[in-house]
Amino acid sequence: MILFLLKLRLACFLYWNNYKKEEFDIMKNYNVDKIKAQFPALNRMVWDKPLVYLDSAASMQKPQKVLDAIQSSYSFNYSNVHRGLHKLSEEATSDYEGARKKIANFINCSDKEVIFTSGATAAINLIAYSWGLKNLLPGDEIIITIAEHHANIVPWQIIAQQKGVKIIAANIIPDEDFNSEIIKSLVTENTKIIAFPHVSNVLGTVFPVKEICKIAKDCGAISVVDGCQGIIHGKVDVEELDCDFYCFSGHKLYGPTGIGILYGKSDILIDMPPFLGGGDMIDIVKIQNSTFADPPARFEAGTPPIIQAIALGHAIDWVVEVGIDEIGKHEKKIISYGTELLDSIDGVKVFGKAPSKTGVISFTMDCAHSHDIATIIDREGIAVRAGHHCAQPLMDAFDLVSTTRASVGAYSKYEDFDKLAAGLTKVKKIFGA
Ligand code: ALA
Repeated sequence: MILFLLKLRLACFLYWNNYKKEEFDIMKNYNVDKIKAQFPALNRMVWDKPLVYLDSAASMQKPQKVLDAIQSSYSFNYSNVHRGLHKLSEEATSDYEGARKKIANFINCSDKEVIFTSGATAAINLIAYSWGLKNLLPGDEIIITIAEHHANIVPWQIIAQQKGVKIIAANIIPDEDFNSEIIKSLVTENTKIIAFPHVSNVLGTVFPVKEICKIAKDCGAISVVDGCQGIIHGKVDVEELDCDFYCFSGHKLYGPTGIGILYGKSDILIDMPPFLGGGDMIDIVKIQNSTFADPPARFEAGTPPIIQAIALGHAIDWVVEVGIDEIGKHEKKIISYGTELLDSIDGVKVFGKAPSKTGVISFTMDCAHSHDIATIIDREGIAVRAGHHCAQPLMDAFDLVSTTRASVGAYSKYEDFDKLAAGLTKVKKIFGA
């Protein structure tokens, strides 16, 4: 009874705090309601309940501005790029290359260092196949962490197996910030690549990117940052971070699917051979051999994702307009609130509580499998991700099969977590817990 009253008090406190916090956000000009109203998908009902979208780490919803850009690019000046001498092609080329400039400004690099790919996965594969096949030798070592998304593990394995290279994984403590000394302790004279996430997609831990890139530089290795879950929560300045490669996906940054960015330092890109061959990446083609264009064209064979790139440029305009650091601060508050709230529920265990944590809250429940949790709360209109989150080595390391993950975006509200907490109470009831 006493425990019940204490919990009730905590719930009332958090509920009250929630509204105080949202008022405060509006006063500080971060008007989450106004932001949310720009996302048409967030207005829909799911199973007759208002949608509570807590799956933004898997893919962010799109603001009207991006949807309009896709519509107008396809309906007004759609054409192939770099190939036409007509007005439509000129306009499409200018929009496409304009998007590259926006991205370069956004991450502070030259537009020659911005390569359009189909996503972050393609970007990492490009580095592995191009830089890796050319530069790796038997006995070399690649350092990753146990917290990688599969996209930052499997491409390295494919190349490592071909070249006789060893992969070494750094450990991570779920409730602590990552200590870059762990990476330092794994460095040997054979280390050639250090690949790591900016932010873990399961734990939300923010990695010390600048420190790890310095370790790579000091030992003569290249640094590869999987920035998918990082660039969406705060300012990324690749010059300041001094990373060799940084990649991310457009669909997680309020843009469309089918587009990703590979940033690479120009002096490294210039020495890299092409990964895919085809049109637009060449200089001169003969029957027996060809010469290639300079980067970035060298790495963009074939008709590129034109409208996706243009729309990503508009997504970045939108993010800049709202302010990426403001978005990040808002999300961090929501995540702290949600972590505290979920952790206060009996039988719920939050996995990952590093002080730096942002973006995601992974948790397990004593009474139910993550798939059951996600299925039950879906009926309440709540969308979360459940499973191994493409991070099986992390699950293995902590003896987990899966977790349920709630993740946030610029439009997320404290009340989303209140609804999630209510949904979890329903799960407990169904499972008799
Ligand atoms: N990589 C995405 C996630 O973590 C799909 O959900």
